[in-house]
Amino acid sequence: MPLKKINPTKTEAWKTLNKHYSNLKKKHLQELFIEDKQRKENFTVSFEDFEVDFSRNRINKQTIENLVSLANEVDLSDAIEKLFKGDVINETENRAVLHTILRTKEEAVCEDNRKRFYKVQHTLSKIEQFSNSVIRGDWKGCSGKKITDIVNIGIGGSDLGPKMIVEALSNYKTHINTHFISNIDSDYLASFLKEINPETTLFIIVSKSFSTLETKLNAEFFKNWFLENTGHDCLKQNFVAVSTNDKACLEFGIPTENIFPMWNWVGGRFSLWSAVGLSISLSLGFNHFKSILEGANAMDEHFKDAPFEENLPVLLGLIGIWYNNFFKVDSEAVIPYSQFLNSFVPYLQQLSMESNGKSIDRNGQKVDYQTGTIVWGNIGTNSQHAFMQLVHQGTKLVPIDFIGFKKSLNGDVHMHKQFLANMYGQADALCYGKSKNKVHLDLKYNEKQDEINKVLPYKIFEGNKPSTIISIDKLNPEAVGKLVSLYEHKVFVQGIIWNIFSFDQFGVELGKEHSNKMIMNLV
Ligand code: F6P
Repeated sequence: MPLKKINPTKTEAWKTLNKHYSNLKKKHLQELFIEDKQRKENFTVSFEDFEVDFSRNRINKQTIENLVSLANEVDLSDAIEKLFKGDVINETENRAVLHTILRTKEEAVCEDNRKRFYKVQHTLSKIEQFSNSVIRGDWKGCSGKKITDIVNIGIGGSDLGPKMIVEALSNYKTHINTHFISNIDSDYLASFLKEINPETTLFIIVSKSFSTLETKLNAEFFKNWFLENTGHDCLKQNFVAVSTNDKACLEFGIPTENIFPMWNWVGGRFSLWSAVGLSISLSLGFNHFKSILEGANAMDEHFKDAPFEENLPVLLGLIGIWYNNFFKVDSEAVIPYSQFLNSFVPYLQQLSMESNGKSIDRNGQKVDYQTGTIVWGNIGTNSQHAFMQLVHQGTKLVPIDFIGFKKSLNGDVHMHKQFLANMYGQADALCYGKSKNKVHLDLKYNEKQDEINKVLPYKIFEGNKPSTIISIDKLNPEAVGKLVSLYEHKVFVQGIIWNIFSFDQFGVELGKEHSNKMIMNLV
């Protein structure tokens, strides 16, 4: 069954939210904290090792009730059911959307999806056997030497997800060095070649379509380099592919047994859980890959079952809509306090902006309200010394998701405390600001009155800037699986409410057409 096609702005809840906004926008977060002494507890939602503190958002109990009414009026529950059941909800491409089946348990699979589930399990065992064999050193490169390096050649969803996960969990890595090549920058490639030995490198060509220009160019580049530098004319030991397009893989020279399947019912940006995650399994070992899937599955179950008021992806999605459509903010920032999550924002940008950067609704009409927000950000504490000035004192309202881990990986307490204190410090500073009186008091100790008058206005912080703190116990494979699934479902929730199709990406096509024409004109 297709998704329902309800214009959110025509619902009763939307009207109520508009009225509610007119009242609440005048309230400072400070007042909200004074009014509700238990605000932190009342707006913190926990799930397993995740604790999400929504209290620094410009919301009250009524806001959540109204947003949940909106979710009910557009029948979000029905959409969630259709997603997990495998209904053809990617209508514009006539496909089901079943990334959740890549990480599900057998007992949760309905009859219609059994065949797909078994295909997934079969592929997982192929990934397991292959990863084990490469990691153990049983699988040898063309000259009989063990594999030391892998190069993942892909772009977009065939790159960003696996790259982000491999980096995020690099503490858990095997002895294999993993590299990701996506861009077609020949200067970079020439310098990168100095890092690898063709005989001991395994190239994984990841392309759902096997027709993406960048991936094809890069794959040819490495194939030629490999053939020229090894004297071998067979790719069998050093090249594998992940694709739905067996024919193109075979034409490229990759034998059938080296092709790992993908399916049309898994979107590129939702595919890291499939064989697209082969580089994850090779880098971290299959058991860790499995744990990532289990973590994601736990979040899926939470998303499916928890009431909306306690449902993390639903709450994140709804609060995002509150800012986007009522406060009319253009962007939201995500700031993980972990160096290992350096690639989380670029990953999220594709997930969110390729999914919800749409302006035609599910009825084929142009929308007259805002849809996908601009997602940006970087890791803390670096962000504090880069763009946070604008968030604290600029003219734009930027809601922030802070992501932090309660425990360090190496048992360190001292520095980790400082790290987390910075995250909470940012959230509090944004929330409470600094009043004129307080600034005046601080300056009085050191400055003369005329100096005070001069600098005072620049040192005032209005505060009232919203943020959410996602606090996770520890950066481990299960937690990363949950975190990614949390954002996948947030994006889904928003697409449903905005009445758009989140699973196609026609917007990237036109640029490709133009660059094809350009090639002819460039000398
Ligand atoms: O950017 C467009 C896109 O189609 C993405 O959705 C996808 O992840 C990427 O290109 C790569 O596609 P493929 O895996 O088919 O090479």
